[in-house]
Formats: sequence, C-alpha cells, structure tokens
Amino acid sequence: MLSDRVKRIVSRIFPLVPLVGLAALAGGCTGRPLRHRGRTLRAAPEPGEGWIAAGGPDASGLSDADRETLAELWLAQASEEHASIAAFSKLSIALQAMGAPPELLRRTHRAALEEIAHATLCYSAAQAYAGRPLSPGAMPELLRAEEGPSLQRMAIESLEDGCLGEGISALEADYRLSRATDPVVRRTLAAIARDEAGHAALAWDVLEWCLRAGGDPERRAVLRAADRLPGRFERAGSRSEAVAAHGQAADPQAQAKVRAFRDAVRDRARSLAGATMALSAA
Ligand SMILES: [Fe+2]
Ligand SMILES: [Fe+2]
Repeated sequence: MLSDRVKRIVSRIFPLVPLVGLAALAGGCTGRPLRHRGRTLRAAPEPGEGWIAAGGPDASGLSDADRETLAELWLAQASEEHASIAAFSKLSIALQAMGAPPELLRRTHRAALEEIAHATLCYSAAQAYAGRPLSPGAMPELLRAEEGPSLQRMAIESLEDGCLGEGISALEADYRLSRATDPVVRRTLAAIARDEAGHAALAWDVLEWCLRAGGDPERRAVLRAADRLPGRFERAGSRSEAVAAHGQAADPQAQAKVRAFRDAVRDRARSLAGATMALSAA
C-alpha cells in the first residue's frame, strides 16, 4: 500500500498524463515520449524494489516540503525515462520494417538500454526522497495493436521527439547538473545529459535516413513540421536551494534557451529537407 504522502505525490503527477504531448515535451518532459494509439503513455508507479539500485542520493537534512517536492519531480522523471525504453523499442521495429542499416538499429537498441539505466537511477532517487521504493507498473496497453509505422511518421517523430525533445532534455540536465551538489545526483544527471545528447544525434541521423529513403511527400511533411515546432517552456516556479542541490533546479533562462534551440532545430531540419530534395532532383 502507498502511504498518504506518497499517494499525494503520485496523484499530483498522474492526472496530468493524458495532457502530456508535444507542447508539454518542450516544457520540460524528460526524453523521448512513448506514443501509442494517439496517446502518450507512462506506467503508474506501484510499491516495489524492482527498479531500485543500491546507493541512492543522501536525503538526510532535507525539510519535509523539499523531500516531497524532490520525490514528486524525480518520480515524474522516472516514469518518463521508463516510457522512453518502449519508445526506442518501437523505433527499432519501425526502422527494421523500413529496411534501415545496422548502425541505426545498433544505436537505437543502445539508446533503449541507456533509458533503462536512466529509469533505474531516477526511481532510486525518488525512493530516497519519498522514503519508500516505487517501481513502474505493467503497461498492458502496449500490447494493443496500432497502425503500422510509416517513413513520414518516423521522420516527424524523430524531429519532434528526438532532435528537439531529447536535445532540450540534454540542455535541461546540463543546467540541473550545474546546480547539483549531491554526488549521486550529479552522476545521474551527467549520464542523462550525455546520453540524451547522443539520442538527439541519433534522431538527426534517423531523420536524414528517412528523408533520403523517402520522397517529396516526406520532405514536405518535415518542412511543415519544422515550421510548427513548439518553443514554449512551462515555467516551473521557484525552487529552493536544497531542491536545486538535489538535481531539480529550474532554469530561469529556460524559455529563451528553448526558443533559441527550437529555432536552430527548425533551421537545420529545413536545410536537411531542402538538401535531400535537391539531391533527388539532381
Ligand atoms: Fe533519451
Ligand atoms: Fe533518458
């Protein structure tokens, strides 16, 4: 059974799940969202030690309010990291279905393994602050059939969820690392920042492969998607120094940084789509 405090933490996070979409992604979701049958899925947490690693952060000396805030934020991130595992599993199947080369498949599988590591680190952090172990529940919805992948959908999701979303996740983790002092939290954020930057780089390579393998309809769809990329960052509100020291600082410059990053992603996607269009016309 969940304690009342942990129930409160969970209920603050999970009523929001159906609202998590691209706009929210640009507003601070962590990593690649799991899209399935038109929804974004995350597993609800339940008591259990299955996803807890030894040696979590040191939560001693924190106020109850800071511990509760940290438990909520790390648990939300844990569920997003956990969802990213299946997002990469789905991407690997889509790539294989479309005849992608082995290097893209290798990197996609490696990314799924990195997301397992991120999820474990984040559930372990959530446990340290919540005072009890929480792990992800089952996701039977994933077994429900959905429409098969298409090059166009893979290209647009790579652009939105990878090039933009995981790129923003890397920036955000970097900022949080710059404010964090707990050594376990610092190691967690350093791994996440490094890996999310790698996942964004993979997304650019998947996008380029889709554009080369596809035709003008795919290129035009990517150009349209590039023009409507969101650059909004939901303000996180102020957070205490202790919360920042434990890895959950909110960057006061986030809005401007996200907008500048979005513009750079849009421009790069435009030139990539334009270059592959010119190549196919030559
Ligand atoms: Fe990722
Ligand atoms: Fe991740």
